[in-house]
Amino acid sequence: MLDFAAGSGRHAREAHRLGLRATAIDRDAGALAGIGEGIATRAADLEGGEWPFGRERFDAVVVTNYLFRPRFALLAALVAPGGLLVYETFARGNERYGKPSNPAFLLAPGELLERCRSAGLRVLAYEHGLLERPRPAVVQRVCAVRAAGPEALRPLG
Ligand SMILES: C[S@@+](CC[C@H](N)C(=O)[O-])C[C@H]1O[C@@H](n2cnc3c(N)ncnc32)[C@H](O)[C@@H]1O
Repeated sequence: MLDFAAGSGRHAREAHRLGLRATAIDRDAGALAGIGEGIATRAADLEGGEWPFGRERFDAVVVTNYLFRPRFALLAALVAPGGLLVYETFARGNERYGKPSNPAFLLAPGELLERCRSAGLRVLAYEHGLLERPRPAVVQRVCAVRAAGPEALRPLG
């Protein structure tokens, strides 16, 4: 699995604990440094310069509390056929509760759903609402899959 914009890599650590092969990527090498044994780490700028993945693909990509729209399609393309994208970040309405309040970091209604669909992912679950813990926050979250095999070619009407 890939923990994208991982910070201290809480999702990579959980994946590793579950026995998955995990990679954490972030520009903050200091945050990655404490991640622990057995997890691959990469320090890279995910918003500028060369895309650090080449043709690599992952069975699962997890993104939380991060949004950079110009490279969403590249991010979605990291999901291998049959693989999963799990994505949760702040949405419009969050400005009532605190930061982030800048619209650049807040998803518009339905945005994560539409972006996943446009990127060729099949959405299994999508929510937009208020989380009460660990502190009040308005988020969107999605779980989507990249269909593999003939299913990917089924006409959609
Ligand atoms: C709010 S933190 C979320 C960390 C982690 N996903 C979590 O939920 O615990 C946002 C992360 O995005 C990373 N980030 C922001 N801009 C970045 C960039 N241009 N390239 C790589 N990482 C970036 C930050 O270093 C930070 O670790």
